[in-house]
Amino acid sequence: MVYAARYERFFARSYDALYAAIRDPAGDVAFYAEQARQSGGPVLEFGCGTGRILLPTARSGVSCVGVDASTEMLAAPREKMPPANVQLVHGRMQDVSVGAAQFGLVTIPFRAFQHLLTVDEQLATLDNVRRHLAPQGRLVFDLFDPKLDRMSLAEEPEREGVAVVLDGKRVVRWERVQRDLSRQVMTVRFRFESDAEELRGETELEMRWFYRYEVEHLLARAGFGNVEFYRDFHGTTWSAGEEIVVVARPE
Ligand SMILES: C[S@@+](CC[C@H](N)C(=O)[O-])C[C@H]1O[C@@H](n2cnc3c(N)ncnc32)[C@H](O)[C@@H]1O
Repeated sequence: MVYAARYERFFARSYDALYAAIRDPAGDVAFYAEQARQSGGPVLEFGCGTGRILLPTARSGVSCVGVDASTEMLAAPREKMPPANVQLVHGRMQDVSVGAAQFGLVTIPFRAFQHLLTVDEQLATLDNVRRHLAPQGRLVFDLFDPKLDRMSLAEEPEREGVAVVLDGKRVVRWERVQRDLSRQVMTVRFRFESDAEELRGETELEMRWFYRYEVEHLLARAGFGNVEFYRDFHGTTWSAGEEIVVVARPE
């Protein structure tokens, strides 16, 4: 099964409203736009989704290619009148090809790398990043830093998550988590509850969790050196408990 097939209708439709509330306050949109500006571009974003980061980056003047494996998610930036310097491509970050050795920056924002559940998929993606990077280019991506008290729980009961208004109708997202501790994979089940029948539904995502030193070894194995780790999108040196924000250069 292609993982991204699960980014189906409810998720794609509610994504912008939900993550404007949940994620935008972290400052990742401005962080990635600044990385793009510093790189001089062009930028290749793997897992661009609805264009939450891709479109503001392109509007700041840097040419961008956005790749996503989900047609439902990619429909969103297409409907947002993307500027002329944006190209949208349906494909998988493991094997898509959009012009070798061209990009000053490859990004994988908002934990999209965590949808790669196996080491083979992770290494294939890092190889593909290297194929697309220009000689002085950089890879920038982020992961959540596992909170150990929660990661030890094989199951967390359903709880009420974020509530948003979509097309004037209230939607509440309920969340339930199961963890496979051996595979380091969590399954998050989302149930969307609303008075509007068309906004009700269920979907689930699988995410691999990573530890900071595991990421360092993985990157070294894929030929990346000179790696910087941050704990947020404001340049704070990494320590446990928040994000794992990574800036890496091919050796
Ligand atoms: C959490 S969203 C992040 C979207 C966007 N980068 C953002 O910051 O809002 C993860 C995205 O990765 C995409 N995705 C998952 N697996 C993928 C793969 N193997 N190749 C390309 N895209 C993938 C999903 O379809 C989804 O749009």
